[in-house]
Amino acid sequence: MMKFSALVERIAGEGADAWVTHYEARRAQERGEDVILLSVGDPDFDTPDVVRERAIESIRAGDTHYTPATGRLPLREAIARLHTARSGQAVTADQVVALSGAQNALFASSLCLAGPGDEIIAIEPMYPTYPATIEVSGARMVRVPAPPARGFRIDLEALAAAITPRTRALFLATPSNPTGVITHAAELDVIGDLAMRHSLWIVADEVYAGLAPGGRVPSLATRMPDRVVTIGSLSKSHAMTGWRAGWIVGPRPFAVHVEALVMCMLFGLPGFVQEAATVALGISAEAEGRIRDYCAARRDFLLAELAGAQRLSCCVPEAGMFMLIDVRGTGLSGYEFMRGLYESERVSVLDGGAFGPQTSGFVRVCFAAEESVLREAAARIRRFAATLPQPKARTARSS
Ligand SMILES: Cc1ncc(COP(=O)(O)O)c(C=O)c1O
Repeated sequence: MMKFSALVERIAGEGADAWVTHYEARRAQERGEDVILLSVGDPDFDTPDVVRERAIESIRAGDTHYTPATGRLPLREAIARLHTARSGQAVTADQVVALSGAQNALFASSLCLAGPGDEIIAIEPMYPTYPATIEVSGARMVRVPAPPARGFRIDLEALAAAITPRTRALFLATPSNPTGVITHAAELDVIGDLAMRHSLWIVADEVYAGLAPGGRVPSLATRMPDRVVTIGSLSKSHAMTGWRAGWIVGPRPFAVHVEALVMCMLFGLPGFVQEAATVALGISAEAEGRIRDYCAARRDFLLAELAGAQRLSCCVPEAGMFMLIDVRGTGLSGYEFMRGLYESERVSVLDGGAFGPQTSGFVRVCFAAEESVLREAAARIRRFAATLPQPKARTARSS
């Protein structure tokens, strides 16, 4: 009998089912089959040339050795500047740690802020890695809804009611994945009051901030500099998902603990990635503007292509590269719709249930794709929805 730690149980499996269709579709696409993949949040264009050139140049120059574990100073300074521009909070480079993507930063926050016996609140629907990332620390995750009936805005009363003496932190993605909802300043005021009253940390996952109007989202960092941890990365805003270039910004005592964790977990990003990331941060305004405009145009395009689709309704996102489609009118769950659509039309979308029960009657579509791809995908989605039997008829048959 092989023995493993209790930790492996805590991180096992959650959300894995949702990706089965995506991986199946990817394999089919690699075999050259006619498959449309809208299931993953990866912009369909390349990292800017100057960024790629810098990495190549840096490798050629021999930048392939160990680096300072928390990131080179010019990189941390560039991150600090972007953070200040976005949030208005003045920070220094020693409040910044460069990490391997926002995912790595979420993991570090969880381990540094909570442990067994503690609770961390997360807003649901949530990015599918959150449950394991939060519970890996030993803390219990408490879900607070941002339900469809409220336009996916946080139920602030439920949030207040969910806080207990064990609550240590609130994990909040703004703009949200999958809803594209930005937490507004008035909502943050309420959240800030609760956090101050109960001495909570706010972990603000701003990985999509560059895709929000003006490239920024309202933040609590200025109001609560000792309680807010801000997470970002170049993945979405610069089409750099594969580079694994992200960061965490927080009060210095927090950064000290992240640094200690980095020493035993990561030991520094590759030098050529850091050099490329520094160049990328230097062209942020232009790179983000390009993706933002691209996403806004594709969102409107997809909305127009899906207008009038039978029994489907699109939830218009405020920002980001995803749109939820409400499939409850078909009588199918998000999972059933995802499977049926893939099997009959070879379009891969993601079951909303992967983000929690609030979105189990939805599917998530990534619209950061060419218009021709979106047009064809929308035609197939409409055809699939139109061929489904009336929900009542199916219920009668199955009962
Ligand atoms: C809300 C959210 N947080 C974090 C991440 C992870 O991003 P990164 O590629 O920077 O690790 C994602 C990726 O999709 C995300 O949607």
